[in-house]
Formats: sequence, C-alpha cells, structure tokens
Amino acid sequence: LAVRRAALLPPPGAPGDPAGQPLPVESRPFASYGSALHVALPQPPRAGQLLTLEIDYEAGEGPGVCWLAPEQTAGKQKPYMYTQGQAVLNRSFFPGFDTPSVKCTYSATVKVPEGFTAVMSATSWEKQKDNTFVFKMSQPIPSYLIALAVGDIVSADVGPRSRVWAEPCLIEAAKKEYDGVIEEFLAVGEKLFGPYVWGRYDILFMPPSFPFGGMENPCLTFATPCLLAGDRSLVDVIIHEISHSWFGNLVTNATWGEFWLNEGFTMYAQRRISTEVYGSAYTCLEAATGRALLRQHMDNTGEDHPLNKLRVVIEPGLWGVNPDDTYNETPYEKGYCFVSYLAHLVGDQSKFDAFLQAYVNRFKFQSITADDTLGFFLEYFPELKEKGVDSIPGFEFDRWLNTPGWPPYLPDLSPGEQLMKPADELAELWAADDLNTEVIEAVDITAWRTYQLVYFLDQVLQKSPLPEGNVERLSKMYPKISKAQNAELRLRWCQIVLKNNLEAEYHKVKDFLHSQGKQKYTLPLYRAMWGGSESARALAMETFSATAPQLHVNVQNYVKKILGLEVAE
Ligand code: BES
Ligand code: ZN
Repeated sequence: LAVRRAALLPPPGAPGDPAGQPLPVESRPFASYGSALHVALPQPPRAGQLLTLEIDYEAGEGPGVCWLAPEQTAGKQKPYMYTQGQAVLNRSFFPGFDTPSVKCTYSATVKVPEGFTAVMSATSWEKQKDNTFVFKMSQPIPSYLIALAVGDIVSADVGPRSRVWAEPCLIEAAKKEYDGVIEEFLAVGEKLFGPYVWGRYDILFMPPSFPFGGMENPCLTFATPCLLAGDRSLVDVIIHEISHSWFGNLVTNATWGEFWLNEGFTMYAQRRISTEVYGSAYTCLEAATGRALLRQHMDNTGEDHPLNKLRVVIEPGLWGVNPDDTYNETPYEKGYCFVSYLAHLVGDQSKFDAFLQAYVNRFKFQSITADDTLGFFLEYFPELKEKGVDSIPGFEFDRWLNTPGWPPYLPDLSPGEQLMKPADELAELWAADDLNTEVIEAVDITAWRTYQLVYFLDQVLQKSPLPEGNVERLSKMYPKISKAQNAELRLRWCQIVLKNNLEAEYHKVKDFLHSQGKQKYTLPLYRAMWGGSESARALAMETFSATAPQLHVNVQNYVKKILGLEVAE
C-alpha cells in the first residue's frame, strides 16, 4: 500500500475543516508479511472517545489484490481483478486492523470502466450512474472477509435468495449446476444452526487461477470454476462455504493459530448438512476421502510436525511464521475429529446439534479462542464437566490442542462401508501381481458416484507403484477415470500417473496444471513430480515456467519452494 495522507476528521456535526487535520504517518517494520502504519494523534485520546481517521492510499501489486490479463480469464476478452483476504492478505488491499480478532461493518464505492461489473461481500449492492457501485456490509465482520471482484460478469438466479455470477461464457453451466439446490442447504443449515443472518447467499465463479476451491466471503462465496463439473458432484464445497455462514463468519477464530475453530467446526457442520440431505452412507464416504487427505498430509510432513496440532504457535514479529503458511489438512480433518469427539462425549446427535446452535447464538459476531469454545461446552453439559471429560487419559482436551499427531479419536465412518467396500476390493484386485481380469471385469463401476471413484483412486494411489503394466491396463479399462474432466478425479489420476511413472500420460498432468491453479491441486502434483524420476522433474520445470505467470503469487512461491527455486521477499 502506498499511504498518501492521513487526517483526523472533525466529529460528526462539529465545526472544523471537513478535510480534517493532516497527521504525520510512518510505516514501521511489523512482520515479513506486512508493516505497521503509525499515525500520530495531536493529543492522546480519552478512553471511549470516537475518532474518525481518513486515510488516502493506493493499492497496487499486492498479494491480496490480483490483476488478471484477458488471457487469464475464461472468456479471454477482458481483464479481471479480485481480492483474496484470508488469511493476512487484505493488508495489501486497504489499511486496517488486519486480524480476525477485530470486527466491523464496512461500505465501499467502486467506480469501474464501462462494460465491467463490481461485486463485493456485502449485504447491499446498488448500481448508480457512471459505472459506480455502492456496497454496504451491515453486519460486523473480520477484515479477511472483505472481498471485491471486478470483471465482465453476469448473474442468474438459482434460488429465492441466491444467484450465481460468472463470466458470460460460464453462466449457463453455473446456472445448470446450482439451479434449485442452494436453498435446501441454507434451509437445513438454518434448521441445525440457527438463522442465516447474511441476507443473500450468492456464488461468484472465478477465473481458473483462483487458488481455492471456495472462499466463504459473506453473502458472496468465491468459487473455483472446477466446481462446474456438469453433474453436481462437487457441491460439498458449496455446503462447506455455506457452513462458514455460522462457523467462521459469525463465530470467528480470534487468532490464526486457532484456525481449526473455523475449519474444524465447518467440516463438522458441512457433514451434518450433507447427512441430512444425502444420508450417512454418502457423507461417511466423503469423510473417508478427507481422512485419506489427512493421512497423506501427515505422511508428508511427519506426524510430529509442529503444524500437526490444532493450536499452532504463531509468534508475532519479523521472524514469526506467516499464518498463510500454516494452511494444511490438520485444522480441517483433525479439527473435524475433535468436534466429532465432543459429539461422541455427548452421545446424542440432537443434543449436540442443540449445543452447536447455542454456541453460535452465544458467540455470534464475536471472535473467540478454543478456551471459550471448550469452556462453553463444559458449561452447557455440566454432567460432562462433573465427569472430568476434559482430562480422560489419552483424550485430554489439552492433548487435542497442543500435541501434534494423528487424532486420538476417529469418528465411525462404517455407514459408508457399503460404498467403500467395493472400492477397497477393486483396488486390492488392481494391486495384484497377476491381474485377475475375469473378476475385475465383473465389477461394474458405471454407476459409481464421483466420491466413490475418488475413494477407489486414493486406495490405488496408496498401493502404488502397482506391479508393472497394471496402471496402463487400468487406464484403458476405465476411460471414465483416466479421461475424466472432473477436477477431483483428474487430480487423483495425475497423482497415480506420477507415482507409477507412467510417462505416456504425463501430458495429462501438464494439461491439468495448465487448466486451473487451485493450491490444493497444484502443490501435491509438484511435490510428486519433484520427488519422482528425472523426466518427472523435467516436466515440473517445464510446466512451471509455462504456467507461473497465471498462478496466484502465494501459490507461485510455494511451488518455487518445492522446486528449490529462489523466492523473492
Ligand atoms: N476458508 C477456506 C479457504 C482458505 C483457507 C483461504 C485459508 C485462505 C486461507 C475455505 O472455506 C475452504 O476451506 N475451502 C476448501 C473447501 C473444502 C474443504 C470443501 C478448499 O478450497 O478446498
Ligand atoms: Zn473452509
């Protein structure tokens, strides 16, 4: 940010120069990911005194503000810009208290060139003359949830309080994918967790380089276009972002060191909604793929890695870790296990649902720590507090929070067995030295849902490298998998191609990395390439030099680290 001027405005209604009194400003070192703006007041304020400070600034190339050339959009005709605030990137978008412990309302006036539309994470939106858009967020939110996007975008209604936004060439697909499905998720969420306070729930489909599956910007989720699979198979991401409407956006982690309060509770809420809508078999299957991701993550980093605890130490100052570098599966899936463990202690789903609703109601619009959460849990269930459930040997709340490693309790996913067992057995067959073709051919996977295939592929990946020739045969036998357009299937197939060093299909890895820039797809593939053969390493270098300019800067830097390339500060 380039700060031009700061001024103290006269209190509303008071006399004085409306341009305010200019104040000296100074930028001081704060962290490797931002500096502190110091503004000297003419005199020390009284306790409780309201001050209005006006800051003129310019935002340019910051990690939080992304400027895309026409070629980086789906339509390739017009430029595009968007912001991504979480975790600590919005300090390059506007000056402010960029911590999740502070909440405020906001308003913005955005003037754009002719032919562009601006959207924000706001409760009201109004187009005025001169391509000027006025936004207001009337509920207090943390800074990381303020978001803006400007592009050649149009919208279509998909429900009574929901519409999709996308570039014109994607809008039909977006409408088809979500027409009539969002409202049910919102209604189930309200039934379980209490009122939806944000008014609208809209979705903006981003350009392909958007680094996340979804980002829960209030009123307007930002989502990867990969979700437009054509068969509604990836709606769990939308259920996840909707769940943040209660967990994360209403009740917020006060520090990024307790990110699991946002994501672990959201995973739990997502799977509660999913269970109500799709049943427990499907939901447990999806949860099993989540568990496999946690397994892979812990295998990669080592279970004892300091980031594999729910409460991460984020020291302030110039040498502290960057909160964005703590993004991994632990807060999601270990967090999910801990919330499931709390539900298990209660033993009755409806009582635990009632607790979640009371929790949201107790802490809505606040930022809290895990101690607040767990304190409230024990207060809400005094009989559990009496029993000392917070200190059962091996399952101590303190251990959950402060000890790295595999979760001490795993929720029972056996309702998903009917879907997982056939996939487990088929993976077993494909791992054999002598393929039993007859038995394999007798298994009909045409009716398998996407997540059943994903689960199957995760099993195959775990057993890889398979005996010589098996992966080629698998590829031929199941074009539905090896030629899939679905991003979750493509990711797994590419991982299998690399683990088995199937050079004949390297082009699929390249094509997939050229087609999108989601961090959770990009990094595992570069890790696999870099840990693979000479030719896999060459593929990594070649692909990265071609795609780097399209990737979000954070993702670019993480790939550079994997490839041992220099990262500019
Ligand atoms: N809030 C996250 C995305 C995020 C996390 C952005 C940390 C920046 C820093 C979002 O809700 C999320 O978790 N998205 C997942 C969805 C999945 C778990 C269903 C994603 O993008 O994959
Ligand atoms: Zn999330």
